[in-house]
Amino acid sequence: MKLLITGANGRVGSALCAYFLQRGDKVIPVTRADVDLTNLPALRAFLLEKNFDCLINPAAMSAPDQCEQEPELAQRINADAPAVMAEIAQLRGVRIIHFSTDYVFAGDRAGKRRENDCAEPSTVYGRSKLAGEQKVLENAPGLASVLRVSWVYGGERPGFVDQVMAQLLAGQSVRAVSDKWSIPTALDDLCEWLACLSKSSPGGIWHGCHAGEPVSWYALAIAVQETLQAGGWLAQGANVDAQSITEMSQWSARRPIHTAMDSAKLSSHLPRPIVDWRDALRRVIEQKMGGVPAIILDASCMTPVVD
Ligand SMILES: NC(=O)c1ccc[n+]([C@@H]2O[C@H](COP(=O)([O-])OP(=O)(O)OC[C@H]3O[C@@H](n4cnc5c(N)ncnc54)[C@H](OP(=O)(O)O)[C@@H]3O)[C@@H](O)[C@H]2O)c1
Repeated sequence: MKLLITGANGRVGSALCAYFLQRGDKVIPVTRADVDLTNLPALRAFLLEKNFDCLINPAAMSAPDQCEQEPELAQRINADAPAVMAEIAQLRGVRIIHFSTDYVFAGDRAGKRRENDCAEPSTVYGRSKLAGEQKVLENAPGLASVLRVSWVYGGERPGFVDQVMAQLLAGQSVRAVSDKWSIPTALDDLCEWLACLSKSSPGGIWHGCHAGEPVSWYALAIAVQETLQAGGWLAQGANVDAQSITEMSQWSARRPIHTAMDSAKLSSHLPRPIVDWRDALRRVIEQKMGGVPAIILDASCMTPVVD
């Protein structure tokens, strides 16, 4: 199979390129240096030149605050460029898998959202991503799948889980938002879900996250702490403290509160059911710690980051 993968330097795109290459598939990794997604004629010409059996599009303007400040650019990258990609996929008769987000939901009620629940985004990011979903599904009916993901972690690019691990292992306390809920997604499982969708998917919208109950960033940080302690990598000591989303004054885009998604539809399409987020988290942490039953590992091996 030959896959064209956009956003090849991004968190998800880089992991997908590595995963498919390792499986022995052919990959055309596409970065900003190859084609700027804001230039739609250049994008169309670039895609028409390439031969591929499936187009995967994780490229996006993915920072909600940047989208809020540059709404026209967000619309171009998150909606107009994917529309062109779907148009070319339709012309070629090949599958397109387009990434979207839990931020398409308003987030105003607790519980888990299904694929056909009403999407009413409250941010420029969410609106541009919803517009992208609609254009992709319209331009390549039956060939287009939209995969909504949330809180992706794991892989080479450090994210929230790595940051919490690094701080706790360094003996530093962690503060995390306790009044915003979603469900995390482990990148290695996400790659396997993609492999399945790229081979066989009737198209439409899919929710790609783990099973289990919605969790806040605070509860996720506690789960990281408990896993490190259970593995013998962390002694008691460092605190995980809750903070309110109202304290995040640096965010110009108001984040939706309840955006947990129900992935039962995707789970029933896969050869193995999607596992609970706690089991996936445990596996990823054990892999990151190398399975070493140490009391404390040197925290300098972890890279502290801002998510
Ligand atoms: N990560 C998450 O937790 C999460 C949660 C919900 C939804 N999603 C969705 O999942 C997808 C993948 O997310 P991600 O975390 O991998 O995002 P990311 O790390 O921000 O990667 C996005 C990629 O898009 C590329 N890109 C942006 N503007 C471009 C342009 N004008 N021309 C060409 N390339 C451009 C970036 O290129 P540069 O590297 O050159 O900047 C980057 O490689 C996105 O659709 C996102 O909306 C992710």
